[in-house]
Amino acid sequence: MKPTVITMPGDGIGKTVLPEAIKILKAAGFEADYVHADIGWEFWQTQGNPLPEKTLELLTEHKIGLFGAITSKPKDNASEELDPALKNKGYVYFSPIVGLRQHFDLDICIRPCKSFKGNPLNFIRRKNEGFEEPLVDTVIFRQNTEGLYSGVEWTNPPKNVRDAFETHPKMIKFKDVPGEDLAISSRIMSRNACKRILQSAFEYAEKFGYKNLTVCEKPNVLRETSGMMLDEARNIAKNYPNIEFRTTNIDAQMMWLTKNPEDYGVLVSENMFGDIISDGFAGLIGGLGFACSANIGKEVAIFEPTHGSAPKYETFNPSIINPIAMIMSACMMLDHLNESDKAIKIRNAIAKVIEEGKVRTYDMIKLRGSQDVLKQGACTTQEMTDAIIKYV
Ligand code: NAI
Ligand code: MG
Repeated sequence: MKPTVITMPGDGIGKTVLPEAIKILKAAGFEADYVHADIGWEFWQTQGNPLPEKTLELLTEHKIGLFGAITSKPKDNASEELDPALKNKGYVYFSPIVGLRQHFDLDICIRPCKSFKGNPLNFIRRKNEGFEEPLVDTVIFRQNTEGLYSGVEWTNPPKNVRDAFETHPKMIKFKDVPGEDLAISSRIMSRNACKRILQSAFEYAEKFGYKNLTVCEKPNVLRETSGMMLDEARNIAKNYPNIEFRTTNIDAQMMWLTKNPEDYGVLVSENMFGDIISDGFAGLIGGLGFACSANIGKEVAIFEPTHGSAPKYETFNPSIINPIAMIMSACMMLDHLNESDKAIKIRNAIAKVIEEGKVRTYDMIKLRGSQDVLKQGACTTQEMTDAIIKYV
């Protein structure tokens, strides 16, 4: 049966890269019905809701989403840009991609960071003589719905919250801080969510032949939350004797990934730490033009590049931005739908184009984004897609 894919281009360059990914999926022989769904700034402005109900209905029904990017703005700007008829009616802006993750409990975020041979943006390292370019192939599993990004926070916490906190001996030093001078964010983790992210990471490591799995937390300081993640990891690791199980602290990990990134296969972390490490690794393999991701829940899965809407580039004609992050996100969708043969075909085609080095977007040749980049040897978005299609 042909799957139905809900396409949510969103804002800015999301509208540019999503159609490019669909062209490639078609070229690879993936058959699907594509159904457009609204999301993003325009719907905030006109409906007071950047994530319309109809979009949630479509995703509930069809389960698979391809997402481009959205524009978020600070609270005050958001209110200013609301349709005058909706102003002062209690509408509050929220990020619709965070909304999607919460609504569908997309708790497993997967961010693969693998270098392509010949990419001028790859990490290189000095040797005693000359340089070397180790292959980076790390997949970050980020718990996507809990942790420090749970959103349970206060400035000037209500009395009952403050009283509850003050039952903890370590609150003594904050006892005399006036409420309006006190901000609290809480790192909340549940055992089940820890188990789910760990289990899916171990399964992935086994399925794709990764030799080690590292849990990256900070249990010496965050004894309760990181401690729980680590306890569960040790339990699950017993079922995977062929995968070397390791632990690192987030701070040390940020150092190690710039020294010996090739040592890390699968990495597992809480929400914020996973956000940080995945950006760290993405920087070693080419940055935002290459960073893809999947958000996977029990029912629904949504695939998206990690970059945002880069509004400055939206109106470029022709477009110059790199479509590879979006295309690789579509490959993750193919893996999810057990169409890995097509995903491999596309990844191989991208690898060939990059290794040949004839067609490169501006980011790959380290130019500042402007209309002039085309005269300086950069290709257009469309030319990159066409080059990939040629090898698909
Ligand atoms: P951004 O990721 O949109 O762009 C930052 C810079 O990275 C761009 O100016 C561009 O130079 C480069 N870049 C990004 N994607 C590229 C690509 N595919 N090819 C080549 N270069 C690329 O981040 P920024 O500027 O911080 O945010 C812009 C808007 O996007 C904001 O409103 C922000 O809230 C939103 N955002 C949305 C995300 C999402 O939809 N998941 C994630 C991050 C930001
Ligand atoms: Mg991030």
